[in-house]
Amino acid sequence: MPKDRQIRGVRRALRGARRGRSTSAIPMCPSPSKRSSTYRPISGLKQHILEADLRPAIQRVYGATLHANSRAARFTAGGSCHVSGWLHKHPRARNVSSSSSPPKAPDTSLFVPVSLKTDFSMDGSVGAELTQPLSKEELLKVLNRFYKRKEMQKLAADHGLDARLFHQAFISFRKHVLEGSALPADLHIILSDICCGAGHIDDIYPYFMRHSKQIFPMLDCMEDLRKISDLRVPANWYPEARAIQRKVIFHAGPTNSGKTYHAIQRLLAAKSGVYCGPLKLLAHEIFEKTNNAGVPCDLVTGEERTFMDLEGRASGHVACTIEMCSVNTPYEVAVIDEIQMIRDLSRGWAWTRALMGLCAEEIHVCGEAAAIDFIRELMYTTGEEVEVHTYTRLTPFSILDQAVESLDNLREGDCIVCFSKNDIYSISRQIEIRGLECAVIYGSLPPTTKLSQAKKFNDPDDPCKIMVATDAIGMGLNLSIKRIIFNSLVKPNVNEKGEKHMETISTSQALQIAGRAGRFSSKFKEGEVTTMHRDDLPVLKEILSQAVEPIETAGLHPTAEQIEMFAYHLPDATLSNLVDIFVSLSQVDGLYFVCNIDDFKFLADMIQHIPLNLRSRYVFCTAPINKKQTFVCTSFLKFARQFSRDEPLTFDWVCRHVSWPLAHPKNIKDLVHLEAVHDVLDLYLWLSYRFMDMFPDTALIREIQRELDDIIQQGVQNITRLIRATDTSLTSPVRTQSSRSGQLSGNSGAADGRYLTNSRGPRGQRDLGEMTDSSLANRLVRDGLLTPDLLRQLQREFSKDPKEDSTNQQVLDTEHHNNNNKGKKRRKK
Ligand SMILES: Nc1ncnc2c1ncn2[C@@H]1O[C@H](COP(=O)(O)OP(=O)(O)O)[C@@H](O)[C@H]1O
Ligand SMILES: [Mg+2]
Repeated sequence: MPKDRQIRGVRRALRGARRGRSTSAIPMCPSPSKRSSTYRPISGLKQHILEADLRPAIQRVYGATLHANSRAARFTAGGSCHVSGWLHKHPRARNVSSSSSPPKAPDTSLFVPVSLKTDFSMDGSVGAELTQPLSKEELLKVLNRFYKRKEMQKLAADHGLDARLFHQAFISFRKHVLEGSALPADLHIILSDICCGAGHIDDIYPYFMRHSKQIFPMLDCMEDLRKISDLRVPANWYPEARAIQRKVIFHAGPTNSGKTYHAIQRLLAAKSGVYCGPLKLLAHEIFEKTNNAGVPCDLVTGEERTFMDLEGRASGHVACTIEMCSVNTPYEVAVIDEIQMIRDLSRGWAWTRALMGLCAEEIHVCGEAAAIDFIRELMYTTGEEVEVHTYTRLTPFSILDQAVESLDNLREGDCIVCFSKNDIYSISRQIEIRGLECAVIYGSLPPTTKLSQAKKFNDPDDPCKIMVATDAIGMGLNLSIKRIIFNSLVKPNVNEKGEKHMETISTSQALQIAGRAGRFSSKFKEGEVTTMHRDDLPVLKEILSQAVEPIETAGLHPTAEQIEMFAYHLPDATLSNLVDIFVSLSQVDGLYFVCNIDDFKFLADMIQHIPLNLRSRYVFCTAPINKKQTFVCTSFLKFARQFSRDEPLTFDWVCRHVSWPLAHPKNIKDLVHLEAVHDVLDLYLWLSYRFMDMFPDTALIREIQRELDDIIQQGVQNITRLIRATDTSLTSPVRTQSSRSGQLSGNSGAADGRYLTNSRGPRGQRDLGEMTDSSLANRLVRDGLLTPDLLRQLQREFSKDPKEDSTNQQVLDTEHHNNNNKGKKRRKK
């Protein structure tokens, strides 16, 4: 083709583009619907597998129409639902599905540009041959003029490039134009024309936009992404549940009112059923109770599957942790325990899924009365009625008019509730000093250790009559407690943004714990509740006098399929980035919120560099691990690495990794490590149910976990000895904060040494004790400030003049007074 005809062809095509006509000269990204043939699928996932996997999810997301039988509910927008041929709309129903609401503007700060190769070698130097080489200086001027054109900025904004993206895209485009070894012929010609005054600056726009879409592929599929992340009608996600008309029975009442008992009675009488509980302990308890009642029942938790049938066939009944319940198996009865947890910022989605998705003729929901209205409202969206059974406490409890004030006033059946492990250590040590025995329960103990501590405390023949516990006792353990003593009323909490802060406990939390006082069928027919410190008592009374805040929203979580569909559109994004974009685009109606995905993202970032296919990566990131435990996190990373090499994680490999066999703990640090190893073995078991070939030695791991359980149990039985050993082995002050101090350990204040490390831990407490005799220490205690240098100075003073525990108590009282005032101020705020 003659050169000038070729140039004219390109120019004609460009004029068309400027007028908005499509042109074959500018190959834009394929539309999402055409992508299956041209688009690169998720690395490691075969296209056909992906499509097969996605079909149900695609149907769910794109097609709201359900294949309903004659009894099914058919959903329409605007909080109404059509049930069995009649349409009703509840007067209080909020805007349940708002398809008419404007699409949510994406958070473009999450759009990470894809890096492109700078080499446009496809066309070689055809552009330069057709015209002439371009001067970089001239080009820079032209490009900068383009960047400053208001009209171009506006046009780009109309196509999804806000100011931030426009800027980023321009920088990238300029780099490609100036640094690419050879430009595509069409762009070269256009730029050449502009440089010599024959073209218009706006002719750059289509090329700029093409580049922008290459580096921000989401621009081209925003509508699809919005549809995938549309979480407005969760009722539609479970066609099997919608195909049956379920009866919902709400057992409402305070703790210890027999709610779960009554729901379980119904479960036992049914031909088939599922119990969904918030904790492994509760699933175990119901599993045992059901089997003891002569009804074969299996157990399913993240880390454990026990089938009563010797050949491994499923029994008619199953007790499980709520995340594990099947929404595809039909049951006669389902029990969803502790329904108020539907608002839990991290785990709420599991209750939403169970409530909306379980295929059972009867759904028995147990929980606080504060959830009744909300559950009714959710059930309007499924067209199901809610029958409410209300219960009152089987044993009454009263709030005492006196605080305990000193550990000398402890009595049989007392349970001191703390919100930090350091408080647990410190108090159990002080109890031991008084010649008393105590049981200890906190969240990170293995379930069997918790049970054995509970048994020790409940046993009337055991000398142990006192319990020191965190709020881990709020659910799932039967405890014969006469009096609950709140050692503090502030607790570390995580808000919607995932930020940690200290908060006074809510009425719901206080009631859950206080409700443990007095136990049906124990010798303590009436419970009592009070505080350790005098100043806390009126605060506790105020908290308990308030009505429990009604529940208003339920959690949701993106599914693996939804994230896979995102990855299909955005194959270069990291998993963490995918979920961020998902959450930023997701639309939920007023009844729901998207659960906090920080832990998921934390794990996703940790293993991003490890080559895994998306489905495996997603599964790994949903592992329930505590990110604060460094050893568990490093183990997680090692597991993922080994997995990615396709090397099975054998028993020997794990033993080497955790240095098994492990010795009995000599101090608290050892005990904490053993707890972490227990969690690592739990992680192995959890993964073994998802990747059986790669984690083959489940039985052996379970065996050593049982041995480890025993070691931990013995350690906890002698916890005060471990605390003593820790106390003397410490050479530097403990840099942690008590829950009463109102600050978290490791927060910025504590970390940079600006604050006094007023730990209630054994060591911290002794430091404080000794400080009372020093004028310097007194001043620092009063001011609540201590620099590292001053701390060292205090240590020197302390080594000269050791003091007794009685002094500690005085200091604690002073400290308590200060903290309490701080606490009050916080509450007023
Ligand atoms: N009607 C009853 N007969 C015998 N034991 C009961 C009865 N109701 C409740 N219990 C027992 O009382 C304790 C508390 O009941 P539970 O159902 O767990 O209360 P909730 O779920 O309201 O906290 C449990 O040990 C339970 O077995
Ligand atoms: Mg219960």
